[in-house]
Amino acid sequence: MGFPVIMDCDPGHDDAIALVLAQARPEIDIRGVCTSAGNQTIEKTTLNARKIMTFLGNDVPVARGASKPLFRELITAAEVHGESGLDGPALPDPAWPESELSAFELMVKILEESDEPVTMVPTGALTNLGLLLLTRPDLKSKIRRISLMGGSAVGGNWTPAAEFNILVDPEAARVVFSSGLPITMSGLDVTHKALITTEDIETFRSIGKRTAVMVAELLDFFKKFHEEYFAGFGGSPLHDPCAVAWLVAPEIFTARKARVDVECGGMHTTGATIVSFAEADVDVLFDVDREAFVALLTDALRALD
Ligand code: BDR
Ligand code: CA
Repeated sequence: MGFPVIMDCDPGHDDAIALVLAQARPEIDIRGVCTSAGNQTIEKTTLNARKIMTFLGNDVPVARGASKPLFRELITAAEVHGESGLDGPALPDPAWPESELSAFELMVKILEESDEPVTMVPTGALTNLGLLLLTRPDLKSKIRRISLMGGSAVGGNWTPAAEFNILVDPEAARVVFSSGLPITMSGLDVTHKALITTEDIETFRSIGKRTAVMVAELLDFFKKFHEEYFAGFGGSPLHDPCAVAWLVAPEIFTARKARVDVECGGMHTTGATIVSFAEADVDVLFDVDREAFVALLTDALRALD
């Protein structure tokens, strides 16, 4: 068995692929999937997480997170992920009921019951984890590390200054980044280099297995938005799988220690992450070996049925 992990996500195409990668890797033991509101409403992201876990044949608990950010109204991203939040492939109806616990309660239960510290992998807004750290700081000692997707050192994707996940719930992000816990931040600096090209999508499809074909179909939809709005990139940035990939292959990434503060009150800069190298406690990823990243995903898709 691998090391224990809690996925906290808002699927979302790239969240779904992060779940696929986590499922494929023997080093990772997914203990539970928590959902957050972001790419779509909490109803939709929770249904999507349950469908993906059903597709993967993994019956770990899937628990619904907060329906809105701690202090703000919800922003969603239907432009990127479609009306369902996971438009594209036909996915099975969930085979198992949603957990009776909330995401917060499931996090508490898994952390309390685990013999060893648990790695948290948030790939959406940080509402659930912010709530946990605010109300159960005693459980910090049960968290080994947070490997999150969010933020950036330079520029945003939803506003000129802010990356989407941090913009959705900046106050929760501030709680997380000021927690003192070990954090690895996969922000736009690195995820905009984790590009998936049309050729890569065809490579995935040609594997021919059902998960590989499903991932290719997710990317067929995901690339439409990026072809329109990120035309100069030459591919779609596969943000969320970076947070999982770093856990199993840190050597393919370049990291730098930095301090990360979150802007919560700016007139034009709310949700910006202020990355400074003076007092350094967060591992901020800046680069990835793209070919190695694609190879990691290809191997994962070959390993799954
Ligand atoms: C992040 O925003 C979401 O749309 C993606 O799933 C990813 O987590 C990228 O900014
Ligand atoms: Ca996400």
